[in-house]
Amino acid sequence: MGYHESEHTKNVRDWKEVFDFLIKDPSFLPASPETEDDEIRTLSNQWPETPPQFREVCQTYAREVEKLGYKLLELISLSLGLPSNRLNGYFEDHTTMMRLNHYPPCPCPELALGLGRHKDAGALTIVAQDDVGGLQVRRKSDDVWVPVKPTPNALVINVGDTIQVWSNEAYESMEHRVVVNSERERFSIPVFFFPSHYVMVKPLEELVNEGNPPKYKPYNFGKFFVARNRSDYKKLEVQNIQISDFKII
Ligand code: OGA
Ligand code: NI
Repeated sequence: MGYHESEHTKNVRDWKEVFDFLIKDPSFLPASPETEDDEIRTLSNQWPETPPQFREVCQTYAREVEKLGYKLLELISLSLGLPSNRLNGYFEDHTTMMRLNHYPPCPCPELALGLGRHKDAGALTIVAQDDVGGLQVRRKSDDVWVPVKPTPNALVINVGDTIQVWSNEAYESMEHRVVVNSERERFSIPVFFFPSHYVMVKPLEELVNEGNPPKYKPYNFGKFFVARNRSDYKKLEVQNIQISDFKII
């Protein structure tokens, strides 16, 4: 965790640099995506010494967003007709991460993306963005990329793949991307809510029945996440694993 600038999305390098840190330090993930391998890897933060307030400011903000995340998870549970704390147990050893994104101006913005099209793998993402703009969501009805206009003092909430599966598609995770421009740099701060690595993600039992059978096979969150991360720093020949790979037809 810390600074890096060579992340790939959909096998193309993004036009961005980032600083990542965990809200729970240390956090734990499987060492490899292989199902037979039960080795666990410890992740921890690396903070720079300067600027001196950086660490505390980041942690204070992250703690507040974490509270908001739990509030949203509770409201989502209620909206599905479930007890408000129904999802909380999945986050006991969460691997939630905060990212500071910097998208530098790009001389050829028509040739690059700040962040390629993707869906967030976790439960929820809470994004603060500045006034530059660039985040777009794909509208399903006609495949048009719709800008998510920056609104002062507002946060953008993305539903991730995990909630799509838990809710058996009552909620859907949206595909999104970030375009860049040639004049202004852009900053954004997503907080990604990831469940504990050992959680088996599957449609919640209370929501499935004969008329609404489960649309997904259970999968281990940590293994799925680590398999997805395999393509983060190198180009693969094929599209990496997606929740659609667990879909029951
Ligand atoms: C992400 C993301 C949006 C943004 O990092 O997954 O979607 O506005 N970021 O930077
Ligand atoms: Ni995203």
